[in-house]
Amino acid sequence: MSYPFQLRSAADYEQAYQSSVQNPELFWSQIAEHFHWHKKWDAVLTWNFEEPKIEWFKGGQLNITENCLDRHLPAKANDTALIFEPNDPKSATQKLSYQALFDRVNQLAQVLKNNGVKKGDRVAIYMGMIPELAIATLACARIGAIHSVIFGGFSAQSIADRLQDAQVSFVITCDGAYRGTKEIPLKSVIDDALVQCPFVEKVLVYMHTHTPISMLKDRDLWWEDEVAKVVALGNPICKAEVMDAEDPLFILYTSGSTGKPKGVVHTVGGYMVYTTYSFVNVFQYQEGDVHFCTADIGWITGHSYIVYGPLCAGATILLFEGIPTYPDAGRFWDIVDKHQVAILYTAPTAIRSLMGFGLAPLEGKSLSSLKVLGSVGEPINEEAWHWYHEHIGKGRCPIVDTWWQTETGGILISNMAGITPAKPAYATLPLPGVQPILLDENGTVLEGNDISGNLCMRFPWPGMLRTTYGDHVRCRTNYFATYPNLYFTGDGCYRDTQGNYRITGRVDDVLNVSGHRIGTAEIENAINSHTGVVESAVVGYPHDIKGQGIYAFVIIESVHGDADLSKLDIAQTVTRLIGAIAKPDKIQFVQGLPKTRSGKIMRRILRKIAEGAVDALGDTSTLLDPSIVEQIVKGAEL
Ligand code: WT7
Repeated sequence: MSYPFQLRSAADYEQAYQSSVQNPELFWSQIAEHFHWHKKWDAVLTWNFEEPKIEWFKGGQLNITENCLDRHLPAKANDTALIFEPNDPKSATQKLSYQALFDRVNQLAQVLKNNGVKKGDRVAIYMGMIPELAIATLACARIGAIHSVIFGGFSAQSIADRLQDAQVSFVITCDGAYRGTKEIPLKSVIDDALVQCPFVEKVLVYMHTHTPISMLKDRDLWWEDEVAKVVALGNPICKAEVMDAEDPLFILYTSGSTGKPKGVVHTVGGYMVYTTYSFVNVFQYQEGDVHFCTADIGWITGHSYIVYGPLCAGATILLFEGIPTYPDAGRFWDIVDKHQVAILYTAPTAIRSLMGFGLAPLEGKSLSSLKVLGSVGEPINEEAWHWYHEHIGKGRCPIVDTWWQTETGGILISNMAGITPAKPAYATLPLPGVQPILLDENGTVLEGNDISGNLCMRFPWPGMLRTTYGDHVRCRTNYFATYPNLYFTGDGCYRDTQGNYRITGRVDDVLNVSGHRIGTAEIENAINSHTGVVESAVVGYPHDIKGQGIYAFVIIESVHGDADLSKLDIAQTVTRLIGAIAKPDKIQFVQGLPKTRSGKIMRRILRKIAEGAVDALGDTSTLLDPSIVEQIVKGAEL
């Protein structure tokens, strides 16, 4: 397979960038032509950022799974589509050819159909990182059902919120998942969530860990049994539902600055074109390369660069169930050698945590198959960049620092491996088709280089979100209202003298903990629901491994007994309500919070205290009660 839209030199990049700005419609239609459409589009792009209304390839008809699977058959029937590396290195590796993956997706798609799932229905998927998770997403896409994958670390309450918001009728899960030495009882968490969700009609359960579970009559079905019924009728092909390019493909919930996560909606056509285009260009994928993306399919990285982009490109993907440190900190490197991985795409937090183990876990590992390294999810610090470059890439593998978001669908700013230059800690340049712009807080456009501002996009790209599920106004308010006629990313950014972009972090109340996005308001809501808590304020602080840690300032009525126990209780409540990823690292009981006279919490001050910069608190004179600050500083958990 060749990739007609793969740019192969810096000159290609320059030229493509120019054409993408001069004539975006021509640029994108020439890329979209290389996909399988039942009917070509009527218009390449219709848009305005006021509503917003964004339509790409409108009137075009397609099914994304025909592009991921059918299109590669029979030519690639025996080529490996998916390699599964289980949590336990002693368990057997699995390989699925493109033919096998096609068969399994068709079987499951037929199971969904037989159980009444129709085009447009919402299906939630709550599973561990096993091949069946990829199969489940593709089976939904095959029949036009909208999938909502929920990360396996979320609590029953978080799941229930998401199921309710999308009015999900069908859930796909498994008995349990392995994570290092732990076994996560996924089905039992789903059972707890469903107590609040009577509108869910069916639950399909894949048996993976053999964890004892209970099955509810008339609601719960075994995956294997249902598939067996379908297979008994001959090896089925489930006809792919013909979708309009602008029909929704999936919903993925992500945190914002309000208490409630929002369901980011991506549509079929533009998302397919953008993920494939960015995949082959950023990673410079070559036929036969094994692509190992360590993200969970529960996050956008897994959707775009494990499932859809790579499979549309006919790539070989590696799916890993475990964690980087089990059974030891050499696990990633063993996998790279065992499966001759060419592209490794991981997060700075993983790199930093592995750095902490020194070089011993690298002994005896060759890593000679590696060609390209990738980083995603948060700014990568220079120290981690150099370690990754020197010790993993042996100085010969380009590192792509890929900046993007759940909302952008795919990578927007990144160097292209070996094609455009890397710069440590910089995402560097926008992909052709992407038009970044920096503004200050007053909305003034910051022209020229060597300047910092808020990062926006001034022109649509095919992979961008179309709406937030069930609440279009929220989509406008969140992304299109801060700066009129621009998409606002929520990130701060510096543009150096050469025009390279360096993302400096969120400028809103969203934390990035180990590459996971979490709203401070969500954590505060959870803390505030704990008995005895009067009020709380959560901020992030620099954390060596996680990037950001979570620091909670909590006003409590009174502490009965041991204060540390009360803190543990509060942390547990957060875990129960949201999930372990939101658990505060530090909790400080305070008498009051620094508030302005209008009652607004001055988070700037709390952030300074949390990072230990107590000498740089700045002006506190506008506070209602400046003495509160002194008290907080005295009791700070540093
Ligand atoms: C936020 C988006 C993109 C998939 C994973 C996270 C931060 C992401 C980078 C990077 C600096 C980055 C931004 C962004 N971020 N990649 N290469 N350099 N920051 O997706 O959960 O939607 O989070 O992650 O702050 O806004 P997400």
